[in-house]
Amino acid sequence: MPRVLSGIQPSGQLTLGNYIGAIQNFVKLQETHECFFMVVDLHAITVPQEPAALREQTESVAALFIAAGIDPARASVFAQSHVSPHAELGWLFTTLAYMGELERMTQFKDKSSGKDSVGAGLFVYPTLMAADILLYNADLVPVGDDQKQHLELTRDLAQRFNQRYGDMFTVPQPYIPKVGARIMSLDDGTKKMSKSNPNPGSYIALLDPPDVIRKKISRATTDSGRDVQFNPAEKPEVSNLMSIYSHCADMTLDEIEARYAGQGYGAFKKDLAEAVVAKLEPLQKRYAEIRSTGEIHDILKQGAENVSVIAHQTLREAKERMGFLLPR
Ligand code: TYM
Repeated sequence: MPRVLSGIQPSGQLTLGNYIGAIQNFVKLQETHECFFMVVDLHAITVPQEPAALREQTESVAALFIAAGIDPARASVFAQSHVSPHAELGWLFTTLAYMGELERMTQFKDKSSGKDSVGAGLFVYPTLMAADILLYNADLVPVGDDQKQHLELTRDLAQRFNQRYGDMFTVPQPYIPKVGARIMSLDDGTKKMSKSNPNPGSYIALLDPPDVIRKKISRATTDSGRDVQFNPAEKPEVSNLMSIYSHCADMTLDEIEARYAGQGYGAFKKDLAEAVVAKLEPLQKRYAEIRSTGEIHDILKQGAENVSVIAHQTLREAKERMGFLLPR
C-alpha cells in the first residue's frame, strides 16, 4: 500500500484553509493508503510559542484530526516531538542543504521580512520537514499550495542523499487539491488565509461558533460588482468565497454561478455562511466529545508507537550510510 505522510503546525487556531487544503484530503487518503499524520510541534517553535499554549494547541490539533474524520485505527496520528528521529534526521539533512536553497524559500522570506532578528530554526525549517517525510519513505504528501516549494526541496535532498550515499530514500510526490489548494484571507483576496494573521476576521477557525462564522462571512470583502463568477484574476475575493462554498456544499463552481445568477452577493453570502456552519457543526461536536474524554493522549501514544520502529530503522540506516560508527 502506498504511504502518505503530512503534518500541521500547532501554532494557532486551525482554519478552514487548513481543512480544505489539507485535512479533507487526509481523510480521503486513509481509505486507500497507509497514512501518517503528525502534529509538528518541533516546527511550531521556529517562532516563539508560549509553553502552555503550545501544549494546549498540540492536543487540540490532534483532536481536530480525529474530529474531522481521521480514524486512528487506520492512520497513525502522533506528535512529532514524541518520535525523536525527526530531530536527528533533520540535523543530518541540514548538513546536506545549501544556504542558497534555504534562502530562496518563500515561506522563510515571508516570515522573516521586516524582522530585526530572525530565529535560525525558521531558516532550517525545510530540512526538518524533509526529515519528516523521508523518515517514512512516504510516496505522497497531501499539502496546500504554499508547501509545494518545501516539497521540491525535500525531493532534491532525497536525491542528493541517494547520489552521495546510495539509493535509500523514496522521492515523494506532492498531492495538492485542484480547487482549494490556496484558500485566501477574507479581508484580502491576495493573501493566503492564515492562522497566524493577527486579524481573526481574516480567517474562519474550525472552532469558531456559528454566529462568529456568519458574522465573518457577512463582513468578508467582495468587490463593487454583483456577479457571482469564478474569475480569480479579476474577482479574487468572490472566487475565493466560491471555492469555500464548493467544498462545503459539495457543489461545482458552475452550479454555484448558475444558482446565484442575477442575485447579487447578499443571498450568496447568506447561503455560504450556512454551508460552512453545516460543514463545521458535526466536527465541532465531535471535537468537544474527544476533548472531554482525554482519549487523545492514548491515540497519540499509540500513533508514536506505530511509527517509531520505522523511524528508528530509517535513521539507523541513514547514519550507517553516512559513516557514523554505530553503537554495537
Ligand atoms: P501549516 O501548519 O502551515 O499548514 C498545514 C496544512 O494546511 C495547508 N494550508 C492551506 N491550504 C489551503 N489554503 C490555505 N490558506 C492554507 N493554509 C495552510 C498547508 O499547505 C499545509 O498542508 N510545513 C508545514 C507542516 C509540515 C509538513 C511536514 C507538511 C511539517 N512537516 C511534512 C507535510 C509533510 C506547514 O507549515 O503547514
